[in-house]
Amino acid sequence: MQSSPSAAHLLARATAQLERAGIPTPQLEAAVLLAHAVGSDRTHLYARLRHPVGPQQVSAFRHSVQRRLRREPLQYIIGVQEFWSMTLQVDRRVLIPRPETEVVVEVALRLLQHQRAPHRPRILDVGTGSGCIAIALAREVPQAEVWATDISPDALIVARANAHRQGVFRQMTFVQGDLCTPLPCGVAFDLLVANLPYIPHDDLVTLQPEVRDWEPQGALDGGRDGLDCYRRLIQEGWQVLRPGGWLVMEIGHGQRAAMLDLLQRQPHLTAATCVADYAGLDRVIVARRAERNVA
Ligand SMILES: C[S@@+](CC[C@H](N)C(=O)[O-])C[C@H]1O[C@@H](n2cnc3c(N)ncnc32)[C@H](O)[C@@H]1O
Repeated sequence: MQSSPSAAHLLARATAQLERAGIPTPQLEAAVLLAHAVGSDRTHLYARLRHPVGPQQVSAFRHSVQRRLRREPLQYIIGVQEFWSMTLQVDRRVLIPRPETEVVVEVALRLLQHQRAPHRPRILDVGTGSGCIAIALAREVPQAEVWATDISPDALIVARANAHRQGVFRQMTFVQGDLCTPLPCGVAFDLLVANLPYIPHDDLVTLQPEVRDWEPQGALDGGRDGLDCYRRLIQEGWQVLRPGGWLVMEIGHGQRAAMLDLLQRQPHLTAATCVADYAGLDRVIVARRAERNVA
């Protein structure tokens, strides 16, 4: 009978396999996958490198490594991603939340704190995906009423589950549909946040396989110039804001000028500015609904 392999042996073998497949951080990823398979964390794992790993855990680990070798994102395999100090559930139904999207949350919180927002602000997240932005805001502003929409019913299942796990479900309303159209008439928002698909269609083929082949196309494809969704949001979204309400949108590389141009041609929105992320890249566009209605 063969003896159980040690954690060190499994790690060394998987690291070599992942490296050969071109995974950029093979050692780290092998350790994350093994820790997941044995139900511990990496610190625990490193402290027990010589210990034998049981047959079921070895089998689960090998299965995970095979998935990763097919370039499935690590986060889908382990089922979670950290965002705004929360552990969110993710799978193929939703985009994996990106660290740069935390800038959207930061900008939104700054506006709520400094712009004399009402005591119980009403916030809308359009294209909520995993719910990351909406749930972060609900946790940071417990008195806020937070709405989240997505065109994908599957994404909303994940977002609702995340809201439950983060203890903010009762504070939130989820609606399915295209941009703001599923919202009931007469509900006005103090803040609208959005991270909608913004990758130009022809750029999709150039993305790394983890994104191109595994993340939902409906979360990535922004049409010819990447701005199809934002063009419509800028045209229609102001109507769900109260006068003076804010619009905060995440953008991609090189889209600042085109977005500011779209906003300049929308008379109901004013004060358009751009905020950079921590890498110094233009990342978030901020605009405001005019205080008075434009004729
Ligand atoms: C780039 S992902 C962002 C998800 C999440 N907000 C985040 O920051 O990780 C875009 C999301 O917008 C949704 N979406 C795409 N087109 C939409 C539309 N026309 N109306 C509403 N949601 C849409 C997608 O299903 C996807 O969940």
